[in-house]
Amino acid sequence: MDRLTIPQIVSMKAEGRKITMMTAYDVAFARLVDDAGIDMILVGDSLGMVMLGYPTTVPVTMDDMVRHAAAVSRGAKHAVLIGDMPFGSYQTSRDDALRNASRFLKESGMDAVKLEGGHEVVETVRALVENGIAVVGHVGLTPQRVAQFGGFKVQAKSADAARRLIDDCIALQQAGCFSVVIESVPAPVAALATERIAIPTIGIGAGPDCDGQVLVLHDVLGLFGDFKPKFAKRYADLGPIVVEALQQYDREVRDGTFPDAEHSFTMKDSERAALEQALAEPRRPKKVV
Ligand code: KIV
Repeated sequence: MDRLTIPQIVSMKAEGRKITMMTAYDVAFARLVDDAGIDMILVGDSLGMVMLGYPTTVPVTMDDMVRHAAAVSRGAKHAVLIGDMPFGSYQTSRDDALRNASRFLKESGMDAVKLEGGHEVVETVRALVENGIAVVGHVGLTPQRVAQFGGFKVQAKSADAARRLIDDCIALQQAGCFSVVIESVPAPVAALATERIAIPTIGIGAGPDCDGQVLVLHDVLGLFGDFKPKFAKRYADLGPIVVEALQQYDREVRDGTFPDAEHSFTMKDSERAALEQALAEPRRPKKVV
């Protein structure tokens, strides 16, 4: 299967076809997500929480992101790949944003980058797009600002806040974003934003009317129990399955049933006899010259 392209993703909105996006952070899961036919893989800075054990996404560095994104691009052959710009990698200056975003394309094989924010990042988005870097916006609950929000809370609940969010979506489109993630907002607000822009909206906790949906892989597979947002549907509960498999391994090693003949390398009887004989002979001292 050929890799999807960004123009193909954009045209899915006009064609009324829903877009799927899923996060991934390593080669094994990137292959599985790709095999499932997901349209876009986001190497999200959520890796800080689900892979690195931080309480928020804030401590994640560019080096963390570049390394994981490169692993994902080695595993995924079909999906459009998006690298998430971590906190501090694009806010400091236009040049920092360009340098860091370029790393995702040059070192990690990403097709595009995502960054959080509305009007305040519009100039940065424009600079990236003008310099050949495709960008996905991210509005609503932007987790890098979790401290300012006072927690992972639903956003854009008042009419003013909803208007600001829709204006931000329009501004991001005008700056050149090819898509916008809308996180944790009431469904009708995301529906209005989706109606008013031509680029696809990708919802997470934003109701059914967005052009596409994204979730965090570890939430979907039941591999992360520390924090479970209301919108995160668990499609499989792999945690207990993994523990059960590891407990069986632990038991079999302790009682000697693993490794068995099937999982061991054996020798022919003749080879074994020759080996035993060779080991039985006294070792000749090395000649000192
Ligand atoms: O980092 C991430 O995984 C994200 C998604 C939640 C959209 O930004």
